[in-house]
Amino acid sequence: MTRSTPEGARDYLVPSRVNQGMFYALPQSPQIFKQLLMVSGFDKYFQIVRCFRDEDFRADRQAEFTQIDLEMSFPQQETVFRVIEPLIHNACKVAGHDVPATFPRLSYREALRCYGADKPDRRLPPFICVEDLLPSLTRDGLPLAAIRIPKTGALSRSERDALKDFGKERGLRVFDDLKRLERDFPGPAAEIRVRTGASEEDLVLVAGWAGEPKGHRPDETVLLACGQLRLHAGQKYNDRHKLLDPQNLQFLWVVDFPMFEWNEEENRWDAAHHPFTSVHDEDLDKLTTDPAHCRAKSYDLVLNGTELGSGSIRIHRRDVQSKVFAALGFSEEEARRRFGFLLDALEYGAPPHGGIALGLDRLVMILAGETSIRDVIPFPKTARGTDLMCDAPSEVPERQLRELGISIRKK
Ligand code: AMO
Repeated sequence: MTRSTPEGARDYLVPSRVNQGMFYALPQSPQIFKQLLMVSGFDKYFQIVRCFRDEDFRADRQAEFTQIDLEMSFPQQETVFRVIEPLIHNACKVAGHDVPATFPRLSYREALRCYGADKPDRRLPPFICVEDLLPSLTRDGLPLAAIRIPKTGALSRSERDALKDFGKERGLRVFDDLKRLERDFPGPAAEIRVRTGASEEDLVLVAGWAGEPKGHRPDETVLLACGQLRLHAGQKYNDRHKLLDPQNLQFLWVVDFPMFEWNEEENRWDAAHHPFTSVHDEDLDKLTTDPAHCRAKSYDLVLNGTELGSGSIRIHRRDVQSKVFAALGFSEEEARRRFGFLLDALEYGAPPHGGIALGLDRLVMILAGETSIRDVIPFPKTARGTDLMCDAPSEVPERQLRELGISIRKK
């Protein structure tokens, strides 16, 4: 039980009986603690740790889950990768899968340009950006993607229309037929086939943005929509054409994520990973002038479209940490109130440090060929957050509430 750390989700609160009106939080992760261990002179830490997050349930999300969590002093990003790769390689071997000893590295920019996703599913081919071939279709310099979906060239007209509608709902204009594209825009169809490696039996969709540029990184908005279309088409015709074989394990590292993500609701920047992630040295000056284009020293391990793990090299300088808090809109006082103990620790001199946490349940889910972590957790919660076996959560007797100094205000 701890004080809340800002990992982005809501905390589960535990009322204190002896300090009435006060609450512990169940840890969302041991992030700050493992960093403090490094500051205090331990140079390596690992823990298989239960974490708790009050967030919406999904196939790959439970309220209570388990991380393989580690931290080390003086690492480069590659140092962390060299610990994780053999761990994963061996775990896969035990589960009967032969995977490479090292995994490809792709920058966030490349992941978006090739897959339209920050957690690419590499069982489907990458798409190719073809702005140069179709300048008249390219609006405001925004990307235009040629998306090849293998073996689906014989889709019916209504099936193609459904894919077009899916793209349209996400702001895209989609051409579903290279022959027709060739009629309206003569020339590039043959070259698009060559670049995408399409054969006669494949479907090639050409997708670009239909409206005005949108968001702080408008090209990302377009690429993400193209990525959704690519994945949707692959998933939709998976049963018919076996496009996403669960035995085919495609790991990769995605690196150099943006430092910040725009929070539309609250009209401010949020930390894309967490506020303790360091910024690329050459982007330090952009923290205040151009937060949209600051790159973080953060990385994700991705497997078949699922984020399996996530980590970063941390900030170890107090002045940089203060600057990042300021970029996130924390006043000096608020930063002090929430993270005073961390700022103090950095003040005394911290070694450069970094680490990662892997989602154990997600790894087991994929190795077991399942599609939901509920299938690999005993007594999981339902999508509504209830435990059907012991019927939790439940009301408690009035006496228990009184001891805790709590009264319930019913909605
Ligand atoms: P992050 O929040 O990205 O990073 O979590 C790391 C990994 O934990 C798994 N995970 C989950 N699994 C199941 N259900 C959930 N609700 C859930 N939330 C997360 C994912 C994810 O990749 N402290 C940092 C790590 C670090 O920087 O070292 C952290 O917790 O597989």
